[in-house]
Amino acid sequence: RTIHLKDYAPFPWTIDGVDLTFALAPRATRATSRIRFRPNPAATATGPFFLHGEDLRLIEARIDGQPVTPTVTEDGLTCDVPPGPFTWEAVVEIDPESNTRLEGLYLSGGMYCTQCEAEGFRRITYYPDRPDVMATFTVRIESALPVLLSNGDAGATGPGFAVWHDPWPKPSYLFALVAGDLIPHRDTFTTMSGREVALAVWVRPGDEGKCAWAMESLKASMRWDEDTYGREYDLSVFNIVAVDDFNMGAMENKGLNVFNSSAVLASPETATDANYERIEAIVAHEYFHNWTGNRITCRDWFQLSLKEGLTVFRDAQFTGDLRGRGVKRIHDAAFLRSAQFREDNGPLAHPIRPESFVEINNFYTLTVYEKGAEVIAMLKRLVGDDGYRRALDLYFARHDGQAATIEDWLQVFEDATGRDLSQFKLWYSQAGTPRVRVEESFENGTYRLDLTQTLPPSPGQPDKAPMVIPVAVGLLNPNGDEVVPTTMLELTQPRQSFTFEGLATRPIPSILRDFSAPVILERDAPEGEAAFLLAHDTDEFNRWEAGQTLARRAIRAALDGRAIDPAWTDSLRAVLRDDALDPATRAVLLARPSQEETAQALHAEGRTPDPLAIFQAHETVDLHLAEGLHDLLPGLHAQGQVPGPYSPDPGSVGRRSLGNAALSLLSRLDGGAAARAQFAGATDMTQTVAALAALLAVQQGEAELQAFHDRWSGDRLVMDKWFALQVSLARPEAAVATADRLTGHPLFDWKNPNRFRSVLGALAGNPAGFHDPTGAGYRLLADWLIKLDGANPQSAARSSTAFSTWRRLDDARQALIESELRRILAAPGLSRDLSEMVSRMLG
Ligand code: ARG
Ligand code: ZN
Repeated sequence: RTIHLKDYAPFPWTIDGVDLTFALAPRATRATSRIRFRPNPAATATGPFFLHGEDLRLIEARIDGQPVTPTVTEDGLTCDVPPGPFTWEAVVEIDPESNTRLEGLYLSGGMYCTQCEAEGFRRITYYPDRPDVMATFTVRIESALPVLLSNGDAGATGPGFAVWHDPWPKPSYLFALVAGDLIPHRDTFTTMSGREVALAVWVRPGDEGKCAWAMESLKASMRWDEDTYGREYDLSVFNIVAVDDFNMGAMENKGLNVFNSSAVLASPETATDANYERIEAIVAHEYFHNWTGNRITCRDWFQLSLKEGLTVFRDAQFTGDLRGRGVKRIHDAAFLRSAQFREDNGPLAHPIRPESFVEINNFYTLTVYEKGAEVIAMLKRLVGDDGYRRALDLYFARHDGQAATIEDWLQVFEDATGRDLSQFKLWYSQAGTPRVRVEESFENGTYRLDLTQTLPPSPGQPDKAPMVIPVAVGLLNPNGDEVVPTTMLELTQPRQSFTFEGLATRPIPSILRDFSAPVILERDAPEGEAAFLLAHDTDEFNRWEAGQTLARRAIRAALDGRAIDPAWTDSLRAVLRDDALDPATRAVLLARPSQEETAQALHAEGRTPDPLAIFQAHETVDLHLAEGLHDLLPGLHAQGQVPGPYSPDPGSVGRRSLGNAALSLLSRLDGGAAARAQFAGATDMTQTVAALAALLAVQQGEAELQAFHDRWSGDRLVMDKWFALQVSLARPEAAVATADRLTGHPLFDWKNPNRFRSVLGALAGNPAGFHDPTGAGYRLLADWLIKLDGANPQSAARSSTAFSTWRRLDDARQALIESELRRILAAPGLSRDLSEMVSRMLG
């Protein structure tokens, strides 16, 4: 059944309060609910009294104390109810132990936990499981387990029970319950108005030494949200729990965030710099949801980007403030291009606010999250920092306690700034990545930019209207001085000209500075311009982009069997030698576009990308880069050896990232000698993994891989790296066999989402391996998707996106993938999740 945005209607009742009692037992947990309903004065239509419920065993139900016999179906129940207010009571039985979907109440390593977003609460009890029904909850947990947690503030506790009360009305998707043998890592935070909050990170015994970083990140997030948005925390406790089996990164349940353990646990020996940065960002993201998501939630799931786009935008601001805005912007843009552009330009393309869905879990996408954040970044550019702040203040003042919409969001910007956003709103409804073509001319001191925008068709949207695209432009003169500082051009027409007057010489333009819009810029830049910008641009993003342009040309030359222009390595040499330039910035300058980006670019030109040829071209380019920089590499590598105890501070991380970028190139020249030495001497996981990856990329490191295995076989998160590295760095011809072999390893636990992804996700992330011309990669993934779907449909559906680029491939590969997609679709008992994804991909 398809759900449509246009069919929204309020729930005909509101809830005055919810009391839940859980008698926990692995195979038969009893959940007793007591819910006080009253007719909703804002209801537009009355309907039968319907409560969602799935896989529940209803033991008894009462209304105002009198037993009733509801009509129970697969997805809920209906019941006759009195016309006025009434109290609903129900007892249901659920089976957490056999819950492999990891939705609702389940067991992970002996601990009870919940995941309710988006529609998991209906697997816990009968309820109007929709975000616009908000209520206060009181929860009593009965269990012999030592730690019993739920949302809000702690109430009474005693032997075998604990009570929690959450004073803030919330939708059911923010409900959480945790029970287990857990150890707290505690701290406190004093809010801006002077209230003390008890903080704790709860983990399984053995992991207590890996909580300090998550706690530091939490305190930094709380302070930042006060300083930057004026948002204060609103309960006396804030708990984070780490869970090994978790479908996503983490979940913002009110006062009780539940995290994938990979997004919490860190120690220098077991976590890399990238892990530390990810933990910091996810802790912040979930914390920031307390205001953008919880206090102001979504009216319905079509509005998901209202909370996710905004919260991603906020966590990106946070990371930029802590770790450097330029490099953060570069990472985000590179990620958007590889991952979101891929989604936006294929059969899964959808608007930030979809108009319909079958399974909402399939819409927790890069488009809703990352493009959603980009749209907010554009809004901020258009209204300015002050306008943005006024709009956000108004948003919090006007909508606190409400379930809001994208319209509400845009309205606060209109009201606070007076700007008409009706055209801008198209960003929320039109799918696809806009192309902006640039033409230019110079005459009599006047420089003219002619910009043309096009938005290609996407599923269900053949014709598009022009969008509002902020294009940040600066102009340099030929000796490298900036003659026109960053200016925001607003492209609103299909074709529009912008002029700059009074220039002495023809300027060199720096266009789309700071990646001011999530678009593809098309421009035939004159020879030498990219090298010039790499040397002189004042905009950190465009300086990097100039290097990417040169790298793209090098990749193209390698693909087409032409010689690589030495201008690339020549101009890189200059910036790499510049010790005044921050190491983190130099490290990103060394990175070239991903194979996925190259494939997209070829496809956009009407060429058929061949994953194997792309892989080889990238190898050629890496070797070329290594040779061109050979004399600099040992020195750059040495800069990455940071003395003293490990610290994930931005300076140290930047140095290591430069050192390790150099190491990976160096390994192409020295047979792996430097990497082997680094591996042998490494005392932290960043240096260990970088060395191992550098070795595997040049078909070395067999012994190191074994040593790594033997040292870390008892650590789940470290072993995820061991699995993933081998598969993602396997040669094209060996990747499928490696993945297949690893699925037979005793530590391969396919029901654990992290472990499944570390093998099958890593295979999908090795394009030349996955797209093996025999179709063996497709077959292997399809087999596993069918198997996983029976246990965990949500994860299976997510992993199926590996197939989403199939239409751009050659006929032979298309035929192989199509037959695998059809085989999946024909599998008996296929989930709604996976069947929706496969059907959309088939088109
Ligand atoms: N709201 C969570 C987060 O961003 C993600 C929850 C995803 N859950 C799901 N079923 N898709 O931060
Ligand atoms: Zn989120």
